[in-house]
Amino acid sequence: MPAPMPTETDRAARYEETLARIDALLDGEGDWIAAMATVACELHHSLPHFDWTGFYRAVAPDLLVIGPYQGGHGCLRIPFSQGVCGAAARERRTRLVPDVEAFPGHIACSSSTRSEIVVPVLTPEGRLLAVLDVDSDAPAAFDETDRLFLERLCRKLGAQFAATKTL
Ligand code: SME
Repeated sequence: MPAPMPTETDRAARYEETLARIDALLDGEGDWIAAMATVACELHHSLPHFDWTGFYRAVAPDLLVIGPYQGGHGCLRIPFSQGVCGAAARERRTRLVPDVEAFPGHIACSSSTRSEIVVPVLTPEGRLLAVLDVDSDAPAAFDETDRLFLERLCRKLGAQFAATKTL
């Protein structure tokens, strides 16, 4: 059974608290892997509708490789041509998918996943460092509140870790 959805007020309040905690934890941190691991852990344990939370890193012009995550086993490699993660990486924009079965080419790492949101982590110059992928076992679990806060978080990460070498 998927966890109950938070109300909108709850959801925004949880994000405010969680993002403030992440800010404090990452203050002065320069290690990108440590940052991704911390973000995945903090988000996953704070938002009840997050069933898989993690990063796929851009390691080649058309390839994502798994980074730190929380949840069940995730696929190791995702070409830009595949899945919701690939689409978000290729188009460099957030993809919010209320029904994964209706998304052509969705990669089913877990058969329990019903909806997902994928947000690119871009440096201020527009270089793609990674995508943040969050999957839920509930249908249509993510909304504009999730988009707003996760995009805010990813913008901040992109700026703080802009010097990270990827390709
Ligand atoms: N759902 C993703 C694949 C990654 S896993 O679910 C962890 C996609 O279609 O991009």
